[in-house]
Amino acid sequence: MQEDQTVKRKKEHLKLCLTADVKFKSKTTGFENYEFTHCALTEVEIDKINFETKFFKKKINYPFLISCMTGGTTEAENINAQLAIAAEELKIPIGVGSQRQALEDDKHLKSYKIIRKNARNVPVLGNLGAAQIVQLKKIDVVQKLNDQIEADAMVVHLNPLQELLQKEGEPNFKGLLKQLGKLVKHLNVPIIVKEVGAGISGKTAKELLEAGVEGIDVAGAGGTSWAGVEILRNKSEKEKEFWDWGLPTSYCIKDVYKLKKYYKFILIGSGGINSSIEAAKAIALGADIVASARIILQTLNKSGIEGVKNLITNWFDFVKSVMFLTGSNTLNELRKNKLILKELLY
Ligand SMILES: Cc1cc2nc3c(=O)[nH]c(=O)nc-3n(C[C@H](O)[C@H](O)[C@H](O)COP(=O)(O)O)c2cc1C
Repeated sequence: MQEDQTVKRKKEHLKLCLTADVKFKSKTTGFENYEFTHCALTEVEIDKINFETKFFKKKINYPFLISCMTGGTTEAENINAQLAIAAEELKIPIGVGSQRQALEDDKHLKSYKIIRKNARNVPVLGNLGAAQIVQLKKIDVVQKLNDQIEADAMVVHLNPLQELLQKEGEPNFKGLLKQLGKLVKHLNVPIIVKEVGAGISGKTAKELLEAGVEGIDVAGAGGTSWAGVEILRNKSEKEKEFWDWGLPTSYCIKDVYKLKKYYKFILIGSGGINSSIEAAKAIALGADIVASARIILQTLNKSGIEGVKNLITNWFDFVKSVMFLTGSNTLNELRKNKLILKELLY
């Protein structure tokens, strides 16, 4: 019964993300409040710009991650198979969707395993929700989920808003931080914690980093509204005030970036990164790498693997142009005072 419910929910999520308007309504990522500072005296040699960087232990070609999306259904297997090919060919990391279904039975294990099968050489990220993490009697099962897909890191998603609004949701996270601390000690791979579109503040990130987490994916507000998805599933307007709940992505990146002075961690900028300029601004605000979810799914659906590859390479060609025009030889230079609040320009 529970198994059927998980599979059904996964299918509904995919369908709504492909067919319905589930973006934030009036709240934005906040990137539009910034402009790049033009450098008339640039000496940057565009052809020498190199995006190669390390993501945990592996080299990647672009600071871009295909966000955790799906698994646990037949459709998911097909999607993951294709996304993994795109990730392997571009040499970028990729996450699997929540492995909750694999905790229930082995019926759809292939839908997760296909990612590592098709992406042998890039970082692959496992994924499990905080609601499952708090309920675990034995923490070893997370290692098992990790090993099943030979993941390089395990992502735990925090989604209190989504659990609150989901009709079958489990909004009970008592003991989560302690459990995360145990997980950090127990797992043989690093842990990344992400939101799903309501954002992670600097204060929350600090608590997570203190617990030993090695990556923070802010997944802020302004892109896909998971409250929106659940409100549409519920077919009820009752919770509509929550559609736009959350901390904008640009705010989260800035706030969490301040912690770089005190902690060593990977900062992933995501939540509404739907264009080249948003990707460039997320990096300029401090993200080590950026990530997108729904736009990747939509592009795959419309234009296949080549479409996804073109989207990402075009975005980073644009980032190169921005680096040229802001006088940034490296991504680190792009992160140094290259954005200005629009209101200060007039
Ligand atoms: C179809 C779909 C399924 C998703 N499933 C998961 C999931 O299982 N685990 C997770 O951590 N995030 C999941 N997400 C959330 C994304 O990883 C991301 O944080 C969120 O959608 C915001 O990014 P976006 O605005 O680029 O879509 C999913 C997103 C989409 C579009």
